[in-house]
Amino acid sequence: MGITAVGAYAPAQVIPNAHYAAYLDTTDEWIVSRSGICERRHATEGETTSHLGVQAVRDLMDRYPGALDGVDLVLCATSSPDAMFPSTAALIAGQVGLKGAAAMDLSVACSGFLYALSVAQAMVAAGTARRALVIGAEVMSRVVDQQDRNTAILFGDGAGAVVVGPVPAGTGFQSFVLGADSAGGPSLFLRGVCGALPDGTPMGPYLEQNGREVFKFAVRILGDSAEEAMRRAGGRVQDIDWLIPHQANVRIIQAACERFGLPLERAVTNLDRYGNTSAASIPLALAEAVRDGRIQPGQQLLLAGFGGGLSWGAAALRWSGPAAGAGA
Ligand code: COA
Repeated sequence: MGITAVGAYAPAQVIPNAHYAAYLDTTDEWIVSRSGICERRHATEGETTSHLGVQAVRDLMDRYPGALDGVDLVLCATSSPDAMFPSTAALIAGQVGLKGAAAMDLSVACSGFLYALSVAQAMVAAGTARRALVIGAEVMSRVVDQQDRNTAILFGDGAGAVVVGPVPAGTGFQSFVLGADSAGGPSLFLRGVCGALPDGTPMGPYLEQNGREVFKFAVRILGDSAEEAMRRAGGRVQDIDWLIPHQANVRIIQAACERFGLPLERAVTNLDRYGNTSAASIPLALAEAVRDGRIQPGQQLLLAGFGGGLSWGAAALRWSGPAAGAGA
């Protein structure tokens, strides 16, 4: 079981750091040096998470004609769904010709895409589904307070999509590592429609975080989960050809590479142009690196995410294709 097609989409509206420097107490230099982010994309009014997801799937269909044949399960990882129900997955399915497919959303913050991939892999392996379309899509700009310099500068909007199905022997998924620990939950949270944190933490309408705590957690868990995923796959982190990490902060990715002894060039990073797109960030980075030919069949990939929950997820896979440029 593996990934047979990839696609991505980011809204056209570019928001450079200068946008925030114009009205918040921040600077381009501060944002770049502390996070590595230069700009991000924002959805325009009326553009929702399902719109972005549909565009990512259309990109996949253009590049890999026929890739949706046999898809009877659609999963969408998102923390910014159009609605609680209908699910964003069902809304996307209905617009890309997958009427009747099972569809559900997964809400695991920035780890959501890894969780969704593992659910897809398990459901296809169990015979519950033949093939699965897995999407990560977010309009983070609407759940982040654009007046809060601590969070506004970090997040952006986007979507990525992959198809999970059978691949040639010796390639595809090798292991998954998933976990969550609510002890760290108050470090990063977003209000639900009718909830509050169990410890009574008052919740405002927007995403809130303790940046320093999340940073420390992210550095530790990215390293630990990647090492564990490679160990379960029968290898070592040094065997990784491409690390495709959640795109939260380049300093988090640098720390993981240093721990592994991997050059930073072996990590796919595009957060300089997109910021943190939460559940969309990993498929957005994967699609870009497949498209530009960095990722080639036979290479060892390690996907790793972390975020609210606090949660984490990692997947080791040997890339089976699609070959670079296929269908492009
Ligand atoms: N511009 C200028 N100053 C800012 C700022 C901004 N946009 N945001 C925060 N600051 C200030 C802080 O208020 C703090 O001021 P203080 O020392 O007077 O209290 C100072 O900069 C330093 O803050 P600190 O938290 O030490 O900076 P940092 O180097 O840790 O970087 C983050 C801050 C948020 C970029 C970093 O902690 C981070 O990326 N954390 C992880 C967040 C994340 O990835 N969340 C999503 C996970 S999925």
